[in-house]
Amino acid sequence: MQKDLLKLLDYSREEIEEILNIADQLKYEQKNGIPHSFPQGKTLAMIFEKSSTRTRVSFEVGMFQLGGHALFLSSSASQMGRGEPIADTARTLARYCDGIMIRTYAHETVEELAHWSDIPVINGLTDRYHPCQVLADLMTIREYKTHLAGLKLCYIGDGNNMANSLIVGGLKCGLDVSIACPDGYGPHEEALAFAATVTDAKFTLTTDPKIAAAGADVIITDVWASMGHEEEVEKRKIAFSGYQINDELMALTAPGCMVQHCLPAKKGQEITESVFEAHAQEIFDEAENRLHAQKAVMYLLMG
Ligand code: CP
Ligand code: NVA
Repeated sequence: MQKDLLKLLDYSREEIEEILNIADQLKYEQKNGIPHSFPQGKTLAMIFEKSSTRTRVSFEVGMFQLGGHALFLSSSASQMGRGEPIADTARTLARYCDGIMIRTYAHETVEELAHWSDIPVINGLTDRYHPCQVLADLMTIREYKTHLAGLKLCYIGDGNNMANSLIVGGLKCGLDVSIACPDGYGPHEEALAFAATVTDAKFTLTTDPKIAAAGADVIITDVWASMGHEEEVEKRKIAFSGYQINDELMALTAPGCMVQHCLPAKKGQEITESVFEAHAQEIFDEAENRLHAQKAVMYLLMG
């Protein structure tokens, strides 16, 4: 297994499947009151440079359920907010803790943190990737559909951290991935370069949501303006106006098509309230599975 989880690009299909299998097992144990076998007393430092509900709560609860402890460190209330270098923060935390989870802006920041830290670093979202979310998505899709390879996954909207991680995670697991983004809002070149190397699953990038959604087994979206793009909200509302998951788009998907959304959602923008509520069970199962998938990551990297 890897030392860190920075991006799914670093993981093989077998390693991703191992995480999903352990996540299923930990979920079963948790639901049935069976104790987890994990060394007691581990600590996870959680650095947040951006807001969070799910990531913070699921990592903190997950660490507690594994018999350890998680510490919340907001960058503004720590010395990082006053300019202490990442290299020094990494080497300090590595003297106290057994793992670091970080949510930040530049992907290079998590790479630098991992470089300087002897302990595992887990990416809790950067501007480029959101691997923990996509592990939870893959786990949820597999729960509902019983398998992954051969399914068609469609993503509609901004070519953001979610789009990039879905391209990598989806294709690695053998799903056909189709992405519809407006011109100028496409996925990151690193994710596209990976997609170009894949031969055993199909990748489609289009500006037409209808082409992307046709025959999809799972359709996914995310907010039009991610954290850090708040000043572009009005401009993006115009650019993304045709990129909504609504009844018209759902009608083009395969029968039984699932809907996933990493949350938080802006209902009425990237997804209608009625489609969201009709698929709320799947969407909140996805949110729950953050807990199980991340416990599996900690189990493998910190156990
Ligand atoms: N999906 C997700 O990462 O949610 P939070 O921003 O609430 O952590
Ligand atoms: N793309 C969103 C995901 C939030 C969980 C963002 O980066 O804000």
